[in-house]
Amino acid sequence: MSYLLKCQGCSVTSSDYLNFPSVIARATTVNSDVILSEEAIETICGPSADDRDFISTTFEGLYFTEQDRRFLDSAWSHIDRLEGAEKDLAISALVLSAARRQPRGVFTFTDANRYVDGRRDLELSLRRHFRERAAEYNAVVFDNGRVSRASQGEVFEIDAGPYDLVYLDPPYAPPSDDNDYIKRYHFLEGLSNYWRGSTIMENTKTKKLAKRFTPFAYKRTIEDALQRTFERFASSGTIVLSYSSNAVPDAARILELLKRVKDDVEVREVDHKYSFGTHGAATRRNVKEYLFIGRSA
Ligand SMILES: C[S@@+](CC[C@H](N)C(=O)[O-])C[C@H]1O[C@@H](n2cnc3c(N)ncnc32)[C@H](O)[C@@H]1O
Repeated sequence: MSYLLKCQGCSVTSSDYLNFPSVIARATTVNSDVILSEEAIETICGPSADDRDFISTTFEGLYFTEQDRRFLDSAWSHIDRLEGAEKDLAISALVLSAARRQPRGVFTFTDANRYVDGRRDLELSLRRHFRERAAEYNAVVFDNGRVSRASQGEVFEIDAGPYDLVYLDPPYAPPSDDNDYIKRYHFLEGLSNYWRGSTIMENTKTKKLAKRFTPFAYKRTIEDALQRTFERFASSGTIVLSYSSNAVPDAARILELLKRVKDDVEVREVDHKYSFGTHGAATRRNVKEYLFIGRSA
């Protein structure tokens, strides 16, 4: 979304409480002129600069091939020597490589072979992925003539604006369980800073990172979180919220909350089919994706 708005000529302020989305926003939306040089790509894909093996040993037998895991360590031995937008582009390409190489892009299971179905993304080595993904990231860098910003942090801590438009895309709080992004994307989050300052829960099969609380993930805290977010950006021109009928609270309640800060609220609905699994037995669920658009009079 940040990049789309940049393409539409906006000055964008992006924020997410995970590190990897923030790095990607910096590489693509804040960065206007730096690309990852051919030389840097060659170096990252070449021999390691040191003998680090954290990823190879920590995730042995869990994710990717041994050669792939060694590549991730080796790539980081060079990425550690980069700075600024070059470093952001290299990390973004590495994170996207790992996401594409892992079935469904999530790290909630370790028996990836179960999902191998001949798809090219699952066949390519991570080194080969990296070359391709780095070229793709380089290709999207451009200057729209405006300054953009990106930060990592709680939505309640970012500059309250006012902005012309606030686009909110929080996790959808499910009626049962929670919607914990770290559970699914812990490997990408760890990879985005080489697990520095992160605590791996050693007793978990997937070696996931410790959960970080967010009120958007739970049915008990979501309403208050939405209300506080709407209030925070009440003085901005338009608030747009993306949400799902698959989650709580329901559309009527969200409408009520948004109407407390915006005079005119429109709801757009799009039918959406979620697929779980890749085979004939895969389950599908029909839901509605909502866009709530709140404007001031
Ligand atoms: C549906 S995803 C949004 C993805 C994003 N729009 C994109 O297209 O990449 C929800 C995001 O909310 C982030 N998040 C969860 N709780 C948050 C909080 N309290 N403050 C800021 N971001 C939060 C998650 O890390 C996750 O990336």
